[in-house]
Amino acid sequence: MTAMLATRIARADAASIADAVRVLAAGGLVAFPTETVYGLGADATNGRAVARLYEAKGRPAFNPLIAHVVDRQAAQRLARFDADATKLGAAFWPGPLTLVLPKSADCPVAELATAGLDNVAVRVPSHTVARDILKAFVKPVVGPSANRSGHVSPTTAEHVQADLGGRIDLIIDGGATAVGVESTIVACLGDPLLLRPGGVPRPTIERVLGRTLADAANRGEDSPLAPGMLTSHYAPRTRMRLSADRVAPGEALLAFGSAHVAGVGHAKKVLNLSQHGDLVEGAANLFSHLRALDMAGASAIAVTPIPDEGLGEAINDRLGRAAAGR
Ligand code: TXA
Ligand code: MG
Repeated sequence: MTAMLATRIARADAASIADAVRVLAAGGLVAFPTETVYGLGADATNGRAVARLYEAKGRPAFNPLIAHVVDRQAAQRLARFDADATKLGAAFWPGPLTLVLPKSADCPVAELATAGLDNVAVRVPSHTVARDILKAFVKPVVGPSANRSGHVSPTTAEHVQADLGGRIDLIIDGGATAVGVESTIVACLGDPLLLRPGGVPRPTIERVLGRTLADAANRGEDSPLAPGMLTSHYAPRTRMRLSADRVAPGEALLAFGSAHVAGVGHAKKVLNLSQHGDLVEGAANLFSHLRALDMAGASAIAVTPIPDEGLGEAINDRLGRAAAGR
């Protein structure tokens, strides 16, 4: 599965920051300090790098990721800001606030990083090391907390090493983080909604908005608490047929691997997640392929079986939700 990497740890300075930027540009994974917790960075526009990041964290599903950028101008290239979002960005950025916003028309963030959703989480961190990396890299950087899935968030480089050593390329050590809890997440997709309490206290946000903040966790008995689960998962409008061993006429095919699929000649459209059977490549292609097949006017999308190992578990999780979600 994940090949063991020789994870390097470097004290934050001009040389190591330049190194971090080189690793990101090459599709690698770099842990770096932010004012809240250490983040695990990857090029947000590179689907394969994002897939490797999910694999390194061992995320059971493709929980959407926060895109980090250096300033508000860069944030506005990723997402649309309504009046509330504009106020919050002006008041708290750079700082420990994340906004979930509608994607801009030409948002460059990879589909996998937003789990195929039409919105994107954006944050402008204030830590100088994070800012130096983002400024030099220019492109947005996805940064979940740099821990194995299910573990607590890391506030030192040693925590990161303990969780992710051997699974990522580089750790930039900037000492202990100041805030120690993750950023507050507010969705501005209508009335502002608190998705996760965090580094900016609720009353401080409410003062800026001039009204109370609805609490996503209190919306109803069965609304899930995990922020990523609040937004409905991407599901194609076209019916999905999983574990298919053949394609019926009029169906589209989402294939995995090089095996011949019966009826493929009659398919409306055929896309392969990975001809070589590479689950990292498959994950990177998943949501964009689903979208493309959804446009084909097919009676159903037949999906060939995908091994339930490594990232395959997350791919199958998302396919299952997509199939059930309509
Ligand atoms: O302080 C922080 O925010 C840290 C530092 C490294 O920036 N990052 C962080 O990322 O906590 P992560 O991935 O560990 O937590 C982000 C949370 C996840 O629970 C995810 O589900 C949610 O944000 N999230 C991301 N994109 C979302 C979206 N489009 N809609 C709703 N929730 C989203
Ligand atoms: Mg986390």
